[in-house]
Amino acid sequence: MAPIVSINNLSKTYEGGHQALRDVSLDIEEGEILALLGPNGAGKTTLISIICGIVSPTSGTVTVGGHDVVEEYRQTRALIGLVPQEITLEPFEKVIRTVSFSRGLFGKPPNRPLVEDVLGKLSLLDKKDSAINQLSGGMRRRVLIAKALSHEPRVLFLDEPTAGVDVELRKTMWDTVRDLRRNGVTIILTTHYIEEAEAIADRIGIISHGELLLAEDKAALMGRLGRKHMRIDLQAPLDDLPDGLSGYELERAEDGSFLTYTYDTQADRTGITALLNDLGKAGIRIRDVQTQQSSLEQIFVDLVKESP
Ligand SMILES: Nc1ncnc2c1ncn2[C@@H]1O[C@H](COP(=O)(O)OP(=O)(O)O)[C@@H](O)[C@H]1O
Ligand SMILES: [Mg+2]
Repeated sequence: MAPIVSINNLSKTYEGGHQALRDVSLDIEEGEILALLGPNGAGKTTLISIICGIVSPTSGTVTVGGHDVVEEYRQTRALIGLVPQEITLEPFEKVIRTVSFSRGLFGKPPNRPLVEDVLGKLSLLDKKDSAINQLSGGMRRRVLIAKALSHEPRVLFLDEPTAGVDVELRKTMWDTVRDLRRNGVTIILTTHYIEEAEAIADRIGIISHGELLLAEDKAALMGRLGRKHMRIDLQAPLDDLPDGLSGYELERAEDGSFLTYTYDTQADRTGITALLNDLGKAGIRIRDVQTQQSSLEQIFVDLVKESP
């Protein structure tokens, strides 16, 4: 199947000379949840803004549903829902009017049942006649999503949907996003929370300094880049690492009660057998051993550190 969004060699240099995107290429498949993960200033909002036709690219092309976002802006924009990073709502407007109005902006005829259905999916139906300023922060975020969904887009962009949101509300947002995907909407969200990408994405794209460093299935990414850590609890605390063990990637706990050995899960040899042998030879007695997969956080920090 043709990708719903296709980004080809996209670069953006803002007036003033700052290059926010460098030769980004990426295909987004219909029905996936893609998280664009990157630190502040990486270029996430710029990328989304170009796809949504708000910012013009310096070079490269983007198509949505096969249409060019510059040449065929009206067609592509109609396929897209955008939830911006900042909350922008009229405080005295009623929820249902706000959402119906957004639908009208796309030239769609009024459709009260559809708007109520969208509100229902976002657990806002009982608030439809409330004014925006009577809603909690979490409800306002959901109104923004309802607005973005009001014209029945096939692709929904969420720019940092949970920035500055408390932990509980963040989890509710993730449930909302998963429900939307179940209803057939393709979702692209940006985040600088690693935990968020790890929790809800099918695929993760990592952006740093305007470059897309990788875009990979989440499980494959963790498997490929993941390193394992083996914690070796000792029967007696160790003051120093014996010289015979200097060849291993070993770290001693501050109180000497355990060692941590880090190894590559993809390597032919993990080195565990040799290490345990050498520990025995050095007279170090082991109480317990446990292994742990490195988190996406470690992978991310390593990658972003290495990029220019
Ligand atoms: N309108 C603009 N004019 C000039 N520079 C901009 C503009 N918008 C963003 N930038 C710069 O481009 C870089 C990427 O910004 P942005 O896409 O907002 O990153 P992110 O969303 O990942 O935090 C930043 O260095 C930012 O300062
Ligand atoms: Mg941003």
